Amino acid sequence: VIDIRKLYGQTGAFTFDPGFTSTASCESAITYIDGDKGVLLHRGYPIEQLAEKSSFMEVAYLLTEGELPSAEELKRFEYTISRHTMVHEQLLQFFRGFRRDAHPMAIMCGVVGALSAFYHDSTDVDDPKQRMIASNRLIAKMPTIAAMAYKYSVGQPFVYPDNSLSYTGNFLKMTFGVPAEPYVVDPVIERAMDRIFILHADHEQNASTSTVRLAGSSGANPFACMAAGIACLWGPAHGGANEAALNMLREIGRPERIPEYIARAKDKDDPFRLMGFGHRVYKNYDPRATVMQQTAKEVLEKLGVSDPVFDVARELEQIALKDEYFVSKKLYPNVDFYSGIILSAIGFPTSMFTVLFALARTVGWVAQWNEMIGDPEQKIGRPRQLYTGAAQRDYVDIAKR
Ligand code: ACO
Repeated sequence: VIDIRKLYGQTGAFTFDPGFTSTASCESAITYIDGDKGVLLHRGYPIEQLAEKSSFMEVAYLLTEGELPSAEELKRFEYTISRHTMVHEQLLQFFRGFRRDAHPMAIMCGVVGALSAFYHDSTDVDDPKQRMIASNRLIAKMPTIAAMAYKYSVGQPFVYPDNSLSYTGNFLKMTFGVPAEPYVVDPVIERAMDRIFILHADHEQNASTSTVRLAGSSGANPFACMAAGIACLWGPAHGGANEAALNMLREIGRPERIPEYIARAKDKDDPFRLMGFGHRVYKNYDPRATVMQQTAKEVLEKLGVSDPVFDVARELEQIALKDEYFVSKKLYPNVDFYSGIILSAIGFPTSMFTVLFALARTVGWVAQWNEMIGDPEQKIGRPRQLYTGAAQRDYVDIAKR
C-alpha cells in the first residue's frame, strides 16, 4: 500500500473526489445555484426574472461588471460590443481551411483558438484594461464566428456584421441573411434567441467553465482558453446534450414509443440515457428548463409551427416525472431538453445547437476568467491524484525483458 501523502511529501488533508462532486475549486461572486431548491441566481438576481425582464446584453454586463447597468451604461456597453463585431479579414482563411462538412464546433474550436494569433501581443492578462478589451472582443466576435461557421457549413457567402442591429438581431442577420439584401429581424425570434442566450450565459463551475479557469490559471492567452472551453462544451454530457436530446426526441417520434425508451434508460445493461434529463447539481428541477419549456410553447405558437417533437417532449417529461426510477434518482429535464425544439423551429440545424450555447456561455467564461485572474490569491490550477500504479522498481535492460 502506498501512502500517497508520503509519496508527495504532503501533510494535512488530502481529498479524493473524482468528478469534483464535493470540492469547490475556487471562490466566486458571480453565480449561485441551490440544486435542491432549483435556484439559479446571477449576482443575486433570479434567472426567471432576468429571462423575463432583461436582455442578453444586460446580463452580459451584469456578469462581467457585477451590477445591472443603468440605461446609459447599457447603451455604452452595447456600443462598445458593436464596435468589436468584425473579425480580421485573414480569419476567413481559417474557415476555408476546413472541409465543408466539418462540424461547426470543430470550426469554432479552431477559429476561436486562432484568434490568439491575432491578439497575442495585446493580452497582458495582469492588466485589467487589457482583460476588459479581450473580454469585449470575445463577446462581440463570437456571434460573427458562429454565424460564419453556419454559413460555411451550408456553402453560403458570409454576411458581415450590421452594427445598427441589436446583438441578437445582428447574429440572426449574419446567420439567415444574404449579403447585400435587406433582412428584417423577426421580433419574436429575436426575443426567443435573446432569452436562450440569457439562460445559457453562466452556470458557475461547470465543466467548460472549469476548463477555461484551469487553462487561464497558467496565464495563457484568453482566446486560447476559450477554445479549450469550447472543446469541453462540445461533449454530449455537457453542451452537446441539446443536439442529442432533439435527435433522441426525433428518434422516438411518437408518444406511443416513449415507454420503450423509458425502459431502455432504466436498463443498467443498456448505455442509453434520456438526453436532456438529469443534472450534476439540480436535484429538484432545473429552473432554466421551466423557462425554456414556456419559450418553446410561445415560439411554436407565434411561428405557427406544429412540431410533433414538442408533444413527445411534454409527454416524455410527464411520464418520467411519475416514474419511480427518475423520481428516486432525482432526474428532471435540464436546460437542454426543450432548447433544441426552439432552435429547430427557428431554422438552426442540430449541429449548430452547441455553437449557440458556446456563444452565450462566452459571457460566463470571460466573467469567470476575469474574476480568477483578478484575484491576488490566484494560483495555477493543479489537481492532485490518487496514484494506483506500480511501486518504485529498477529499470530492466531491454535484452532481459
Ligand atoms: N437517463 C437515465 N439515467 C440517468 C440519466 C439519464 N439521463 N442521468 C443519470 N442517470 C442515472 C445514472 O445511470 C446513475 O444511475 P446509478 O446511480 O444507478 O448508477 C444515476 O442516475 C446518477 O447519474 P450520474 O451520471 O452518476 O450523475 P452525474 O451527476 O455524474 O451526471 C449528467 C449528470 C451527466 C448530466 C447525467 O444526468 C446525464 O448523462 N444526463 C444526460 C445528458 C444531459 O442531458 N446532459 C446535459 C447536462 S446540462 C448541461 O450541460 C447544460
